[in-house]
Amino acid sequence: MKKLIVANWKMHGSRNKIQQDLAYYATTPATNQENVIFALPTIYLAEAYHVMNLLANPTFKLSGQDVSRENHYGAFTGETSSAMLNDYNVKYCLIGHSERRLKFNDSDLVLFSKITSILINQITPIFCIGENLEVRNSSSYKSFLLEQLNLLLKIEVQFTNIIIAYEPIWSIGSGIVPNSGQIEEVLALVYSFMQKYLPHVKIAALYGGSVSVDNADKILGINSIGGVLVGGASLLIEDFSSICDVS
Ligand code: PGA
Repeated sequence: MKKLIVANWKMHGSRNKIQQDLAYYATTPATNQENVIFALPTIYLAEAYHVMNLLANPTFKLSGQDVSRENHYGAFTGETSSAMLNDYNVKYCLIGHSERRLKFNDSDLVLFSKITSILINQITPIFCIGENLEVRNSSSYKSFLLEQLNLLLKIEVQFTNIIIAYEPIWSIGSGIVPNSGQIEEVLALVYSFMQKYLPHVKIAALYGGSVSVDNADKILGINSIGGVLVGGASLLIEDFSSICDVS
């Protein structure tokens, strides 16, 4: 099966870029589409939905980058709910990206509410975990990552699918990529956690952090990898298409 390739545009792009990039992507024949997900800024998801309706049956999917922790309509100025994402056929949502955890104080409690809300609305979480350099250099990075995974055990909504992305903070945007052995070690940790505690849940474990056209081949060549989460390199649609074609 082809591996999942997730584009995380973060707070980049424009309406014009959405129109051009998605049209380019959908009409480039060699490109893998079925397993490709575009995580776009919330305001552009509606535009992407409309663009997709104009294209000839594109099979790539849309993802939110964040969602409100509130699951009901109400007086929550500035928020976007899971139901609103659903309205635009958004099938996935990033939860717990380190930029949310660190820059917007998304605590475990907040992440728990967000993940619960999207699951209720049949949106698949792309749950991100990852340690900073200090934790990596200590002997405790595995227990740190397991602690982040523990959140999944508190969820009360039934779920059958999840994507877990290992994104070491020291690699995001830095050009530094862990070696294959380091990635494999964490993927094995994730798979064994899921096997032990949530064996009925289908999981794809991804790697994210400085994935580029130059290293995608090697990273996607790791046997146990379920795919990659691509930040910076997803903004250049030609580069991103090449990464998709590796998978
Ligand atoms: P990067 O970002 O590919 O630019 O390192 C990855 C991410 O933060 O999801």
